[in-house]
Amino acid sequence: MILNKYLTQISNVLVIGCGGAGLRAAIEVKESGLDVNILGKRSRNDAHTVLAAGGINAAFGNLDLEDSWEQHFIDTYLEGYCIGDPRKIEIMAKESPFFVNEIDKWGANLAKLKNGKLDQRFFGAHKYRRTCYSGDYTGLSILKTLLNKAEILNIPIYDNQYVTEILVKDNICFGAVSFNTSTSERTVHLADAVIICTGGHTRIWKKSSSRKNENTGDGYYLALNAGCELIDMEMVQFHPSGMLFPEEIEGTLVTEAVRGEGGKLFNNKGERFMRNYDSARMELSTRDKVALANYTEIMEGRGTENGGVFLDISHKSKEFIIEKIPNIYRNFLEFQNLDISKSPMEVAPTAHYSMGGIHVKPYSLSTSVDGLFAAGEVAGGLHGANRLGGNSLAEILIFGKRSGTSCVNYSKKLKYQNRCENKIKIALENIEKLIKKGTELVRPLQKELRLIMWKNCGVIKNKVLLEEGLDKIGIIKNKLNDVEVRLDQQNNDLKLALDLKASIMSAESTIISAIERNESRGSHQRNDYQETSENLNFNLIVNLDKENQDLKVRKIPNKSLSEEQKRLINGIKRETNFNQKLLE
Ligand code: FUM
Repeated sequence: MILNKYLTQISNVLVIGCGGAGLRAAIEVKESGLDVNILGKRSRNDAHTVLAAGGINAAFGNLDLEDSWEQHFIDTYLEGYCIGDPRKIEIMAKESPFFVNEIDKWGANLAKLKNGKLDQRFFGAHKYRRTCYSGDYTGLSILKTLLNKAEILNIPIYDNQYVTEILVKDNICFGAVSFNTSTSERTVHLADAVIICTGGHTRIWKKSSSRKNENTGDGYYLALNAGCELIDMEMVQFHPSGMLFPEEIEGTLVTEAVRGEGGKLFNNKGERFMRNYDSARMELSTRDKVALANYTEIMEGRGTENGGVFLDISHKSKEFIIEKIPNIYRNFLEFQNLDISKSPMEVAPTAHYSMGGIHVKPYSLSTSVDGLFAAGEVAGGLHGANRLGGNSLAEILIFGKRSGTSCVNYSKKLKYQNRCENKIKIALENIEKLIKKGTELVRPLQKELRLIMWKNCGVIKNKVLLEEGLDKIGIIKNKLNDVEVRLDQQNNDLKLALDLKASIMSAESTIISAIERNESRGSHQRNDYQETSENLNFNLIVNLDKENQDLKVRKIPNKSLSEEQKRLINGIKRETNFNQKLLE
């Protein structure tokens, strides 16, 4: 079916993605007096932000008076293995108290102490209790609050919009094209500025804390095709604890709050094995270390029958568990008929967070394409090689708002909008070209890709595995041309075909970067290069050569610390060793 008709929508700013970052950006634009539209791929109250469980960081020092933004900066920079952008980290550490107070005042209803101040729990590798929370549903509280605010401000939100292309002419962005997944209607969105807030790509691993059809790497695909660059795509965080079964929920997050509230890890010999990996911080070590420890125990035969390790919080009372981690309590009861106040859970590493992403400037969130911005998980630079739990909810609010401010400034200064009829026509035709008969179906190819990423680019990698993975992905890529895309009422084939294209490009970007980084650092663990090299403090940039659709990777020196930041970092003695023996 060729659709000659399409809708046109015009706004000053277009936000792609209706999670926390997108909503916070749009609120800022609207409050600045400009108009803004939000496009969401799913329905508005179901963005991936709802899955962010355990909390949001801000150095209030409500329980540990010594805490400060400086300590939050130090923890984030050092535990990110010194390749995060110190400018972005400083912004987050300084500004998060303001944003956490703001979201609480707007209605997020974060947990309070008896004195009325915000409660703060321990999260892995933070020196102090810094993580504010609503039970184990903090992301949901924040998302609902932002949606409510957006509704009060009358911000138009369009659900079920699948964005297929960003419109760019002469390296200037002027909008995007989407189709409605339930009605098929195509829409051309014309805008002075566009913000990509589409989340990450961790659903492309077999075990993932993301749900079906989300975090398929769409934002990276849109950005690369628009002419943007990606940074540090090899840095993918494996969360130490995902559920093991039933199969349809394999990988679902078991929040770090379980360990923050006292949960302990055991192997099948009853040993509290974190003693062998980080005896000082035990279960509250960094995510990369706990994930690696769990993985090592499982692979060396000390795991559970179902291929996990035990996480036990049954020494706490049922009332405490239901108050602090209600969803985890309910999930285990519902899916495994297991009462975690009586028995330990079984957990294993799961792909959780994309720490790399679209390369943006730290203050403005602008990309290398004029008028195109990115915020939230889809943007890189903040977390380096290991993200501290609780920093991502802070990130979406702080940098969401900043990206909104940047768009407002950009739009106000714009003298004219550089639209191009031909680019619009090509973008619309590109959708139609996908609809065709074929011999391949997307779901099996998607499944194959997820297995490849788990096996060849999983918790522990090496050159042979990575190169083999790249070859296998090449085979799937060739099959893309033979994929059958039928039109049904929900446009399922079309959505899935586009998801697969995006996932393949994101997977390739990740693997070529992982091959290039010949060392182990944080979440990037190579058993053929086990050391963290002091000389390899670089970032990796990926771009798309549009002529031949080739992805290229190159190194850039990482951003050095300012004199003030050096003063903070100097004198800090690392309590833990960067390096750790890996499985051969
Ligand atoms: O474990 C968790 O609750 C995850 C938090 C985060 O990724 O920030």
